[in-house]
Amino acid sequence: MSEHQILVLDPTGSDPDAEHQALRERGPATRVDILGVHAWSVSDPALLKQLLTSKDVSKDGRAHWPAFAETVPTWPLALWVAVENMFTAYGADHTRLRRMVAPALSARRTAALQADIERFVTSILDDLDTLPADTVVDLREHLAYPLPIAVIGQLMGVPADQRVEFRTVVDNVFATHLTAEEQAANTACLYGLLDDLIETKRTAPGDDMTSLLIATRDDEGDGSTLSDAELRDTLLLMISAGYETTVNVIDQALTTLLSDPAQLAHVRDGRCTWQDIVEETLRYEPAVKHLPLRYALTDFTLPGGQTIRSGDAILASYAAANRHPDLHHQDADRFDATRTTKEHLAFGHGVHFCLGAPLARLEVATALHLFFERFPDAQLATGREELRRLPSLISNGHDSVPVRLRPTTTN
Ligand code: HEM
Repeated sequence: MSEHQILVLDPTGSDPDAEHQALRERGPATRVDILGVHAWSVSDPALLKQLLTSKDVSKDGRAHWPAFAETVPTWPLALWVAVENMFTAYGADHTRLRRMVAPALSARRTAALQADIERFVTSILDDLDTLPADTVVDLREHLAYPLPIAVIGQLMGVPADQRVEFRTVVDNVFATHLTAEEQAANTACLYGLLDDLIETKRTAPGDDMTSLLIATRDDEGDGSTLSDAELRDTLLLMISAGYETTVNVIDQALTTLLSDPAQLAHVRDGRCTWQDIVEETLRYEPAVKHLPLRYALTDFTLPGGQTIRSGDAILASYAAANRHPDLHHQDADRFDATRTTKEHLAFGHGVHFCLGAPLARLEVATALHLFFERFPDAQLATGREELRRLPSLISNGHDSVPVRLRPTTTN
């Protein structure tokens, strides 16, 4: 395909629905430009699942992407491909790195966190409850953020004062409108915080995942299981995955329920569950719109006759795939919590399927359920169309979600 047909993805993410529609119209896969890097954006769910489960597709750019060395020094999204953890590992390395943290996030261990999660949400709502009636509160800031930060902070053992510092730098990892220089400075700051965390926990270990990973790294008997870089980047992955994504799902679900009372009525009247709301939000407004990057290890000939060549980069366009008519017929582009199948790719697919999916689902369902129980009359304080989207082609949330918790007059 010639260069002029490449679709340049908007790094400010200003109109994702139109962009995803354009991707689907171009066929199962199409060439895109992501801040100067060319890749195949895949929006056809069947093809995407085929590639995501193929041994001939890797996430290890260092080993399998010919353009890696020339790209990383100047690409704003370098961190997404250069980190050394399970996110970018292939084969046995991936299995080794994933096994170290997987048990802590199993469905059983996650279910055991339910009481903690309810306690965190209740305490956040208690604070909101002290505000005068008619106050407008940004629920992204005051509900969507504090919950995942408290949960992952506890799981990882991040001291309270360090949790706040992580917030901005983790946000910036997802901000695709920043320059390469700004991202490099942010990465340096992030690594500084991670080094501080490692030092803190090495000196005073606790019953948390950071201490466990440090112990694995420092174990003389089998010291080869985790390198220093892998330790730091595994912490980076756990903290960033635990912060931004769950925040977006809470934000999107609140936004939808507050602007589409029919959907809220479905739960209240028993036509669907809170879990249905969570799944439909994940399908309709997935927290991660596109996931950079994967690399072909062999040639793949596509249904239309095009070929993804060995060494080409691949972008998993989850948001576009989730609204594909092949998955959800002609009404794929409509939020409907009562639809019978809500199949989606919001957590990925295959060996890299999100490890935190059970935790994220539990957090979002608990936050929504308890929030609407406490503030049944809450209203968006602005029109939905006036909410500003995050400047990102990856992260799918809003700048803020202003809500009147206890309106004294109706809109
Ligand atoms: C609703 C919230 C979340 C969403 C939508 C989400 C989504 C994703 C996606 C799309 C991937 C990448 C799949 C791929 O390679 O294409 C992923 C990977 C991952 N997620 Fe999540 N995530 C969420 C929450 C969490 C939480 C709370 C944690 C941890 C506490 C977590 C931990 C991970 C890890 C460790 C990976 C890497 C797995 C691997 O490469 O083998 N995620 N997630």
